[in-house]
Amino acid sequence: QGPDPSLAYRPNLETNETKEKEGYRNFESGSLFDRVFKTYSLMHTSQTLAFVEQKHSEWTGCTHTRMSMMEAVMSLDQLVDESDPDVDFPNSFHAFQTAEGIRQVHPDKDWFQLVGLIHDVGKIMALWNEPQWAVVGDTFPVGCRFQNSIVFRDNTFENNPDDKNPRYNTDYGIYEPKCGLDSVLMSWGHDEYLYRVMKFNKCSIPEEGLYMIRFHSFYPWHSHGDYMHLCNEKDLKMLPWVQEFNKFDLYTKTTDLPDVEKLKPYYQSLIDKYCPGVLLW
Ligand SMILES: [Fe+2]
Ligand SMILES: [Fe+2]
Repeated sequence: QGPDPSLAYRPNLETNETKEKEGYRNFESGSLFDRVFKTYSLMHTSQTLAFVEQKHSEWTGCTHTRMSMMEAVMSLDQLVDESDPDVDFPNSFHAFQTAEGIRQVHPDKDWFQLVGLIHDVGKIMALWNEPQWAVVGDTFPVGCRFQNSIVFRDNTFENNPDDKNPRYNTDYGIYEPKCGLDSVLMSWGHDEYLYRVMKFNKCSIPEEGLYMIRFHSFYPWHSHGDYMHLCNEKDLKMLPWVQEFNKFDLYTKTTDLPDVEKLKPYYQSLIDKYCPGVLLW
């Protein structure tokens, strides 16, 4: 195994620098670093078990609006992710870049290409007044110890009450050994929200794709090998798929923006196959 791919385009926490790789990243260490750090500080202060439970009751009933998947993808043109050190252009381009990258390498897996297109659509919560720290960025389990593999672990959790709560700050916290990620509450964000929307609307994307959607921001797990003590066999079977997805999520980020209008008809056909019509959000 080579070096952790997620590190290549992320701010170096110690030196406030990125490891450059030609032709990819778009991280200006000054301004974007400050924005990224601020988003994570707010997130790591406020994402508690109680907060996550409240967000579940607010969002997972899908009572917010009705719209098609393509409308949701295109609405991301109004959103720049404030946690992303690599990208400073609207998320809708990133959706098509990821999908096209997957299409080149996995031409036979249309569901995988569709996951590339829609994986960040849950970020529409930010367009409906959810603060970015409850929408974007890496995710981590709540209700158990915040492990060292979490980005900015050292200097952003000091005001999170769960960090000092003896019920939560052990390796297992409220969970049983190998309970499975399905029963672990993750910090609230766009991964879990879109997963819930897909389930609620009975979309037919295969299980591997649903795992990619639900856990693609769980870097402590898929890129650092942490939290294995909570995983069951199914999680471990799905992990390579989440890692395969991650390559495209990260390494297709380029300032060469795709011709979205030209690509739309193909992706509309995938939407029609797997998550057609008007969906409840
Ligand atoms: Fe994402
Ligand atoms: Fe993404």
